[in-house]
Amino acid sequence: MRITDTSDLWWKTAVVYCLDVETFMDWNGDGVGDFEGLSHRIDYLAQLGITCIWLMPFYPTPDRDDGYDIVDFYDVDDRLGSLGDFVEFVRTANDRGIRVIADLVVNHTSDKHPWFRSARSSKDSPHRDFYVWRSDEPPDTSAEVVFPGEQEGIWEYDEKTKEYFLHRFYKHQPDLNVANPAVRDEIARIMGFWLQLGLAGFRVDAVPFFLETLGASEAEQQSFGDPHEYQRALRSFLGRRRGEAIMLGEVGLPYEEQMAYFGGVDGDELTMQFDFEAMEQMYLSLARQDARPLAETLRRRPEISREAQFATFVRNHDELHLGLLSEEEMQEVFAAFGPEERMQVYGRGLVRRLPPMLDGDPRRIRMVYSLMFALPGTPVLFYGEEIGMGENPDLDGRLAVRTPMQWSPDENAGFSTAPARKLVAPVVEGGFGPEHINVEDQRHDPDSLLNFVATLIRQFRESPEIGWGEYELLDQPHDAVLAHRCSWQGSSVIALHNFAAEPCTVPLELKSLDGDAVLVDLLQPGRTPLEEGRAELTLDGYGYRWLRISRPDELRLA
Ligand code: NOJ
Repeated sequence: MRITDTSDLWWKTAVVYCLDVETFMDWNGDGVGDFEGLSHRIDYLAQLGITCIWLMPFYPTPDRDDGYDIVDFYDVDDRLGSLGDFVEFVRTANDRGIRVIADLVVNHTSDKHPWFRSARSSKDSPHRDFYVWRSDEPPDTSAEVVFPGEQEGIWEYDEKTKEYFLHRFYKHQPDLNVANPAVRDEIARIMGFWLQLGLAGFRVDAVPFFLETLGASEAEQQSFGDPHEYQRALRSFLGRRRGEAIMLGEVGLPYEEQMAYFGGVDGDELTMQFDFEAMEQMYLSLARQDARPLAETLRRRPEISREAQFATFVRNHDELHLGLLSEEEMQEVFAAFGPEERMQVYGRGLVRRLPPMLDGDPRRIRMVYSLMFALPGTPVLFYGEEIGMGENPDLDGRLAVRTPMQWSPDENAGFSTAPARKLVAPVVEGGFGPEHINVEDQRHDPDSLLNFVATLIRQFRESPEIGWGEYELLDQPHDAVLAHRCSWQGSSVIALHNFAAEPCTVPLELKSLDGDAVLVDLLQPGRTPLEEGRAELTLDGYGYRWLRISRPDELRLA
């Protein structure tokens, strides 16, 4: 195994941690998290073992879509600090071996962005064509909205200039016109700016909408050509500005459609994409206590180029998206994990974090995180998952999962010294509140979820087979068990996960192994000898095991 390859394509074995500066740590006591607070918590993240921070939008914003509505792409929102604080943070993170990527939100701007203010002031504005306009009345587009219930259509009438502008998301987020070369120049400049300040790449927001040319003029569409050519050009620009930088794209589509965004077999477009299919099917498997939906999904996951990677995740800052499941499957997941109407949103998702969905059952919670780190790909954590934070059901929609990080059992969860009414978001209350779930207590408890996740991260980092390898689903008789093997350059890790409450024994037959190999447990002490490639492995109810195939001359740490 060439371990040194892992420093080259670093993202293939990265552990990504997503956070929003405003809810992470408030250092100046105004109730809003800031870069200084985040910098004070870098050592916490370094000790957890993560290797890449994904910053949610931190740019100046009226904050009507949690910062995904930007008024200046070249600055830091005043509430969070200054550009100086940003650079100091990136430098400190890098010093601890952590790279930083950030949201690149260029499908749209805020309607308060100076470009849009200018664009809507007159049809002759130099920025008019930065956005997408139509003069004729649009048809009913209520079925095309991303946020049903919060949005009526995707065109909004502008009183002053008497035309309609395109907005794929909220009506205060006009879409930029990517078919306009001046917009593309700005996008490159924005990327170049943040790369120069130290970012190692971007999480690219809403990629399919960003690349589409709906509403652009015929001439513009013609000169723009194939949107994938443009994405390819962006990727090479990124590489020229910073060779190791990545684009992690949000493409919530089925695998077949995702392939095009990777750049097909050439893999010269997005470096990584979130694996929405596997994530959604995992919840179906959890609901059914049957591993087969997930196993079948992994079987049909397409092969991608050597440099590309899937990002695996359990939850993110949005709703738990279930739109790739069939209607019946989605209803099954709703019934299991979000039966009440207030837990559901947009007819396709749940506004809950994992632990409350699993009634706080520590066995199941650990099984799910063990699985996330064992699935082929690069794991992405959402802040607070490592301690098992829950949501605040009193907050509207997606905001329920965006509450302050729970550092201690103290006032405001140790997030801020401001009066509670001034906090950027209220802290979770009840069984998942800071009195029960917080970093401080878990740091001192060797059996805590925090320490368990740190162990998973360590073993994931020491098992590049998972991030780099080829994988296969292993035959075994239990529908509730997912058994898979990741192999890379002559070395293999096997993972077993039991989705059901009943313990079981899993017989495995591993082909082409010589007589002296043993299976070494990676998450607990234990060695299981193989007899002619066969072994019987016991699994607890909701149990999980990672095992490395070890030969007598093995030098690796178990
Ligand atoms: C996707 C982001 O994940 C979501 O939070 C946001 O509301 C939309 N893009 C619009 O930017």
